[in-house]
Amino acid sequence: MIQTVATTPYDDQKPGTSGLRKKVPHFQQPNYAENFLQAIFDASERAPGATIVIGGDGRFFNADVVRKAIRMAAANGVGKVVVGRDGLLSTPAASNLIRQRKAAGGIILSASHNPGGPDGDFGIKYNIANGGPAPEGITDAIYRRTREITEYRIVDEDAPDLGTLGTTRLGEMEVEIVDPVADYAALMDTLFDFGAIRAAIAGGLTLRFDAMHAVTGPYAHEILERRLGAPAGTVINGTPSEDFGGGHPDPNVVWAAPLVDLLMGPTAPDFGAASDGDGDRNMILGRGIVVTPSDSLAVLAANAHLAPGYARGIAGIARSMPTSGAADRVAQKRGIGLFETPTGWKFFGNLLDAGKVTICGEESAGTGSDHVREKDGLWAVLLWLNILAVRKASVAEIVQAHWREFGRNYYQRHDYEEVDKAAAEGLMESLRDRLASMAGQRFGTLVVSQADDFSYRDPIDGSVSTGQGVRIVFSGGSRIVFRLSGTGTKGATLRVYIERYEPESGRLDMSIDEALGELVRTADAIGEITKRTGRAEPDVRT
Ligand code: G6P
Ligand code: ZN
Repeated sequence: MIQTVATTPYDDQKPGTSGLRKKVPHFQQPNYAENFLQAIFDASERAPGATIVIGGDGRFFNADVVRKAIRMAAANGVGKVVVGRDGLLSTPAASNLIRQRKAAGGIILSASHNPGGPDGDFGIKYNIANGGPAPEGITDAIYRRTREITEYRIVDEDAPDLGTLGTTRLGEMEVEIVDPVADYAALMDTLFDFGAIRAAIAGGLTLRFDAMHAVTGPYAHEILERRLGAPAGTVINGTPSEDFGGGHPDPNVVWAAPLVDLLMGPTAPDFGAASDGDGDRNMILGRGIVVTPSDSLAVLAANAHLAPGYARGIAGIARSMPTSGAADRVAQKRGIGLFETPTGWKFFGNLLDAGKVTICGEESAGTGSDHVREKDGLWAVLLWLNILAVRKASVAEIVQAHWREFGRNYYQRHDYEEVDKAAAEGLMESLRDRLASMAGQRFGTLVVSQADDFSYRDPIDGSVSTGQGVRIVFSGGSRIVFRLSGTGTKGATLRVYIERYEPESGRLDMSIDEALGELVRTADAIGEITKRTGRAEPDVRT
């Protein structure tokens, strides 16, 4: 009953920052998904009879590809697949299941925060046995395999009903359909003081969580409302939908504007949060305040010891290069290690496995710890709630006290989306060409002290990743970073990251425009953004 189906390669199946992402119609081309899945089975290592975890964020096409992946696993010598009910698994829950079940890896179907639906985005990502995204060595091997593939294997029997919990067989392979929430909720219960959070909520702490019609709905209903006792209605947009209610499941001030408005308005709860399509990102808000992801990382790192799972302190912190240096100040003062990696959660895996760091974060709304090998939206929400419950202070008070202790890294990211690819690449190339002569140059009051193209040598396995973003640092420590996104599906997305540090004794209450205005103008002058892209303004400021 194993069919071997002849196929021909596609030349565009190179995984990006986080797996292979394309528009749904692109994925629906004949054998497009099958080729990539077969390349995963061919290029990843697995003992005979090994277990694989399969699930995704529930977007359009998710269930179809889950069923295909199950049938192909059965034809590729996999011993058992563990699948989330209805094909659903948040990315952190999938990472946890891979670890709990000692699986050889996992196939996660998601395009994260990108829109879904028949014309939306889709994605396939492979995670390895530690629960984390496959490192570049493996994604490169998968890509090479997609270029030479001639056939794929699939069983001709249907996959079992994804809605029915329990274990069945497909050919030689076991198929276990599991509750996607249970193991994850149990893990959270071991890390956080649910009793203290429950007491704080019972005592009047109010919150709102926006699941953005995406995968975290069932997780948040279970954990926030059922286990922690938040009233029904705390979780909004909590039913996963195939097109995320027509929106972008991207927790930022643009796409989660109603939540932001609520938190800035007269009826604001004490705490607000949102997560993305696949549940790995987070946005944190307090009454009257949006906490930047870089600040959130620093606050969580500085306060993690207040939660039982981190009571013995944290080993170190890792952040992606474009993430602000706020966490560096915490690491410095606490005498723990700080690692600066390229953008992409996969770069944290080795550091976490080696015990060098406990907490990681990225400016792109990702924070997480060594409990799994993915960033984890609800984890960040629960750690914040645990901190609020223990410190009995507001979000704004905690953030302001943090700035008074560590100084403030004013920070903003400007995104120019769907820019002409050649124009964006030309902009980066021109910057790289000018790097050598940049030091010492003056722009208004700013003098360049250092300019380079970030490259990273993994301290554990020695692998080197080059071309990870152009950094221009000014005397005084302000910084502009230019980089092209690795997750877009159309044209190019230029990201410009702007940062300025004010010490504890400095001006901590400026507006972002006041603090960063000169740097923003300088970014345009150095990067020739308007001239080269034709854009006078970014599409998104986060
Ligand atoms: C995904 C990855 C993150 C990364 C983010 C932005 O969410 O998991 O690690 O920071 O994309 O990547 P980009 O290349 O679009 O800036
Ligand atoms: Zn995501």
